[in-house]
Amino acid sequence: MNTLLSESASPQPGSGGNVSPGQALTIRGGRPLTGRVEVKGAKNLATKAMVAALLGGTESVLRDVPDISDVHVVRSLLEVHGVTVEDDGEGVLRLDPSGAVSAHFEEIDAHAGASRIPILFCGPLLHLLGQAFIPDLGGCRIGDRPIDFHLDALRAFGATVEKLPSGIRLSAPAEGLTGADIELPYPSVGATEQVLLTAVRAKGTTELRNAAIEPEIMDLIAVLQKMGAIISYEPNRVIFIEGVDSLRGYDHRCIFDRNEAASWACAALATDGDIFVGGAKQQEMLTFLNVFRKAGGDFDIAEDGIRFRRGGPLKPVVVETDVHPGFMTDWQQPLIVALTQAEGTSIVHETVYENRLGFTRALVQMGADIVVHPEGIASADRRVPRRELEQAAVINGPTPLHGADVVVPDLRGGYSYVIAALTAEGTSTVRNVDIIRRGYEKFLDKLTDVGADFDVVG
Ligand code: EPU
Repeated sequence: MNTLLSESASPQPGSGGNVSPGQALTIRGGRPLTGRVEVKGAKNLATKAMVAALLGGTESVLRDVPDISDVHVVRSLLEVHGVTVEDDGEGVLRLDPSGAVSAHFEEIDAHAGASRIPILFCGPLLHLLGQAFIPDLGGCRIGDRPIDFHLDALRAFGATVEKLPSGIRLSAPAEGLTGADIELPYPSVGATEQVLLTAVRAKGTTELRNAAIEPEIMDLIAVLQKMGAIISYEPNRVIFIEGVDSLRGYDHRCIFDRNEAASWACAALATDGDIFVGGAKQQEMLTFLNVFRKAGGDFDIAEDGIRFRRGGPLKPVVVETDVHPGFMTDWQQPLIVALTQAEGTSIVHETVYENRLGFTRALVQMGADIVVHPEGIASADRRVPRRELEQAAVINGPTPLHGADVVVPDLRGGYSYVIAALTAEGTSTVRNVDIIRRGYEKFLDKLTDVGADFDVVG
């Protein structure tokens, strides 16, 4: 049973905290990863587009959907709500919302799993059924991850929010939700999606200021436009949504997963390998590619993907994570593994989440020289801080890594542990690797494809 959801900050264990060990890998490291991997649709679009299907009067078709556990969670939640989901086994989902019904608290709670996506069901369910229930939210334990922006936005549309011991119940007024004037305190990805998924069917116009503009958000806007929505945006993070009475289903191919692409790029950099990431595209990765090059990486852009490798010795960099078009928070963990092999001092400022550097403890256990400054540090290369919240990791390299026994704390941290183990000399055991399946499709097959030497235990 999940615990009560808190609207404001509800402290959660930090990375590397109490995780129950699941499947483990025994990894023999010290050899370059070389080969080709394919990336499919982005986790952070596919799951949202699946929720959008609830808003359509007809069937939706979503293509290039990755076979990952976050997608399975959203699929079960849709099915609990009466949506029929058919999977052709090759990444094409057909979602028919014509039988949508309200679900019991217990059922939703049982299917919500370790995902934050259930919060995005609110708007569509309020339009469809007049009410919604949200259990406690999972997702990676990388900070407080509150939902206050979401609930404030839903209230602005006219929803009533009621806190219950089992979660949060929302209801729409009898006349339905109405368009709102909303300014987000921070360009939150999830809260922007919440507003989009709610405003498209609300009466009247919604103006959203300080919106997130990540490529996955733009792809969700494309999905909604295919469904009949009217959405326009200005370059200054302002989005206008004109509500419409009804929407139809869509046929859409997901934008590629740039987080997975960046992860494999860092694996090539860390292990002195050479990896071609099929499906990766330059435009959505411009910021990553600049940092990759400055750190000593080299890449070739091809029609069907990007080839990543070292261009010489690795060099230290100073990076700060930020909202798009900044350097994504999801990219810093695998990059830090590579920076342990760079000659000199690198600094990574994490400004999006307050607890996303805890994973470095295991890298230190493997021989890395990394000091985390929990309050952040002043640095000549640092721009004006966007938020109070920030920490910094100072990485001194190069340090040879050696094998260790480590437990995966979260999705991106987990991937990074596997790459660190593959970079290290000797044998490592990486436990609880199941979490990696939340966001990396066919992870073990892909490791094999690039020549990783490992055994699955348990
Ligand atoms: N925030 C609030 N209140 C809210 C919502 C967010 O204070 O109501 C804060 C968060 O605590 C955080 C910051 O705003 O400090 C940014 O959070 P955001 O809402 O942008 O993140 P999210 O929507 O929860 C998505 C991705 C994350 C990715 C971030 C940033 C999904 C399912 N998750 O999270 O992906 O890191 O945007 O780009 O789309 C991952 O893939 O491993 C992952 C964690």
